[in-house]
Order: sequence, then structure tokens, then C-alpha cells
Amino acid sequence: MRIGVLTSGGDCPGLNAVIRSVVHRAVADHGDTVVGIEDGFLGLIEGRSRPLALDDVHGILTRGGTVLGSARVARERMRDGVSRAAELAANLGIDALIAIGGEGTLTAAQLFSDAGLPVVAVPKTIDNDIDATDVTFGHDTAVHVATEAIDRLKTTAESHQRVMVVELMGRHTGWITLHAGMAGGAHGILIPERPFDVEEVCRMVEERFARGKKFAIVAVAEGAHPLPGTMRFAHGETDAFGHQTFGGIGTRLAGEVAQWLGKESKPVILGHVQRGGTPTALDRVLATRFGWHAVEAVHKGAYGHMTALRGTEIRLVPIVDAVTRLKTVPEDRWIEAEAVL
Ligand code: F6P
Repeated sequence: MRIGVLTSGGDCPGLNAVIRSVVHRAVADHGDTVVGIEDGFLGLIEGRSRPLALDDVHGILTRGGTVLGSARVARERMRDGVSRAAELAANLGIDALIAIGGEGTLTAAQLFSDAGLPVVAVPKTIDNDIDATDVTFGHDTAVHVATEAIDRLKTTAESHQRVMVVELMGRHTGWITLHAGMAGGAHGILIPERPFDVEEVCRMVEERFARGKKFAIVAVAEGAHPLPGTMRFAHGETDAFGHQTFGGIGTRLAGEVAQWLGKESKPVILGHVQRGGTPTALDRVLATRFGWHAVEAVHKGAYGHMTALRGTEIRLVPIVDAVTRLKTVPEDRWIEAEAVL
């Protein structure tokens, strides 16, 4: 078989581990040919690809990012591509496509699949917001980076008796903030699923200082927002790719805390540091397993399906099950975290 593979959407540690695994399983075990499509669906639409042999994936397991590149595609362009799905596959001479990506990629993969392109998807995202899989690779790495940042901020915050407001990634879901906040022992965890009251945040900080503690760390997801009628704040508009832009909640909140309490309060925006660099061992293993199972899915003809972790097993689930709704932080997970704040 001739299998195309692409990575699409925001990059994420572990993408190269999937690509490497796909090539090993497909080329070495099945005798397939693998074609790497450059810059995600943009490369598919523009017919840009290169062959991927075993030598081409040598040494990429530990590398962050994606050796194939990634790009966002405007909705119009994607719609046009989908309408020409068969022609695009024929241009590249591929029998099947393995698409690795997050929510947007899975939605596009579903559209191409519906249009007749044989697609198997592999979910990725640091946000861990994809339903139908217990976890996505990349998330563990992001949580490690964010936890280390919180650990480091604690010592400097304590030395200067400051409040540090750490803004972490997570547009609609607070998984990174919840997990890093728990692992790093943050004193406040603010996530999009639970609008916050700035007065409560200030009270928590004030009480800590009153108990003789010398600092406070508040972890806030970039998509967190205040309860209506409390702090006035609005996130940005939706961009050309359908993604919401953000209004700087960390900076705003640090300003509010400083103003209310008269305490030095500093925002730290961790940003893309959470997405860069080498994946953790856990993410490398999950990504490698997903790659293996994606090739098997292609050989079984399980098109329109995606690899998913369920417990300790990798299963195939319909892509549509993953894109129907986002996996948000449920109440019971919040209650566990709240107990240690
Ligand atoms: O979905 C992954 C993610 O890193 C989000 O956490 C974040 O909001 C977004 O991508 C950032 O996107 P970009 O790299 O386009 O700024």
C-alpha cells in the first residue's frame, strides 16, 4: 500500500514519535510505502509530499514539533479541498491517509472521509480536550513543563513575598491547569469550566498571607473567565481559522490582585514553552502505540476511525465520536483538586 501521513493544527510533543512508528510498522513490517505530506492539509491540497523511508525517521523520536511541518488552513480553502478529495489522493498516489491532529484536524479528517478519502486519524493535543480517548499524547509533556514552572516560581515568589499568576494553555478546557496546579501545589486553580470570582481569589491570597505564608501561586487557564457581574473582562474574537483569541486573563488578574490587596503580583504567561521540546517518556510510548495501531487500522480498512486510549488498551473509535463534543473537566475531578487548594 501507499500510505500518506500528515500532521495538522498546532504542534505537540510526540508527533514525530507517531510518524516514526507509522514508518517502522508500515515499511518494515507490511512492506508499504509511506509518503510524508508537508504542512498538514495545506500540503494535501497543494500536492506537496516526500517519501518517508526508515532512514528518514532515524533519530526523530525525541524531537519536539513535527518534521513534516504543520499549518492552519482557512475554512474556505478546506471546503474546496474536501470537494476534490479523490483528486488530491490521486495526485499523491496514496491509497490511504493517516491524519494526526487535534479537534480541527479530526473534523477535517471526518469531512475528507465522508468525501471518500480513506482516512485513519490519530488524536493529539496538549489540551487533552478530545473526547473518546482517555488522554492524548502531548498533554503529559505540557503538564510537566507547567509543573516545573510552578515549582520554580514558588522559590522566587517566596523570596520576594509576591503573588504569581501563571497563565497556562487551555482555550475551552482546564486540563493542563488542573493537572499542573495539582502537581505543583498551586493555591488557586482557575479553569474555563468554572467561572471565578476575583473577590474569592483575593480572599484566598489575603488569608494565606494572614496565616504567615509568604507567597501565593494562582494557576489560570488562558480561557478562564470571571463570573458574570464580577470582574469586567472579555476574551477576543474568533480568528480566520475559527479559533477564539484571548484577552490576557493572567495579566488582568495579577493587576486586580495587586490593586485589591496592595501586594506585588506578577503575571507569568507560559505560552508555547508548554508545546515545545522533547516529549516525556509517557507521551513517546503513547504516540508510538498510536502509530502502530493506525497502520493496523489502515490494513483492516477501518477508515473513518481514530486510535484511542481506553484504560491501558488502544482501541479504534469512529472519528465522529471524538468531534461531537469537547472533553471538559467534570465536577468530580474538580472536587478532588479543590480539596488540596
Ligand atoms: O490546541 C493547542 C494549543 O496550544 C492551545 O492550548 C492554545 O490555545 C493554542 O493551541 C495556541 O495556538 P497557536 O499556536 O495557533 O497560537
